[in-house]
Amino acid sequence: MIYLKTPEEIETMRSSALLISQTLGEIARNIAPGVSTRKLDTIAREFILDNGGKPACLGYEGFPATLCIEVNETVVHGFPSDRILLDGDIVGVDNVVEKDGFMADMCFTFPVGTVSPEKMALLRTTYESLYVGIEAARPGARIGDISNAIQTYCERRGYSLVREMCGHGIGRKMHEAPEVPNYGRRGIGPRLVDGMVICIEPMVNMGSRNIVIESNGWECRTRDRKPSAHFEHTVAVVDGRTEVLTTFDYIPSEIMEKFI
Ligand code: MF3
Ligand code: CO
Repeated sequence: MIYLKTPEEIETMRSSALLISQTLGEIARNIAPGVSTRKLDTIAREFILDNGGKPACLGYEGFPATLCIEVNETVVHGFPSDRILLDGDIVGVDNVVEKDGFMADMCFTFPVGTVSPEKMALLRTTYESLYVGIEAARPGARIGDISNAIQTYCERRGYSLVREMCGHGIGRKMHEAPEVPNYGRRGIGPRLVDGMVICIEPMVNMGSRNIVIESNGWECRTRDRKPSAHFEHTVAVVDGRTEVLTTFDYIPSEIMEKFI
């Protein structure tokens, strides 16, 4: 069952979307070689709490932290730890914030210091594929149109798409219907209508699409241990148009310039 939101509810969702976007900006300013992923987690938790939000991942089905941290071959749901980020790493920072009763969910994969051209190309394609997916998410289109647009864009560039994890609806709960896969056929799935709020989140592998879940039941990595990238926005259909509620505008321009 897809919970459609009223225009007023979508207005309310702007506050969690703004806070999570600002939180990602805070993290971005602190990402550098030598920083531990736990430090980033602490910064995020304190920033969210100081600004009247709630870190929604913390304690969710037992998840132990505010952020999901995805270093190199980690696909999703990595635990913050004492691991020190190194020059050349790529690190996905995935986060869900609750404010005023609604959730927002976003992810950005940052290059740490100077990364290889191969890794940077993966990051760029994944970033671009998020916007290709958003472009396909027009009112009246179907979920499959988003899925197919992302898959086609990434596969044409030689990458593979993770299939076990999907985007999703979002609202008072972190995960609502519908699922938003990053692969599939055009013209299938639910139609996008006013009031739908979804998370579009391509997870793109440099090597094969296969993944492994670690024994802690959460952390997910590529089977071939090649790098994986992940970007995500929370997107609403409102007044007959599609609007991206979250924004990367708080990420410093020195970082964003690497994506143009
Ligand atoms: N963006 C992730 C998702 O949609 C956030 C997971 S939070 C966790 O699944 F609590 F489940 F880890
Ligand atoms: Co998500």
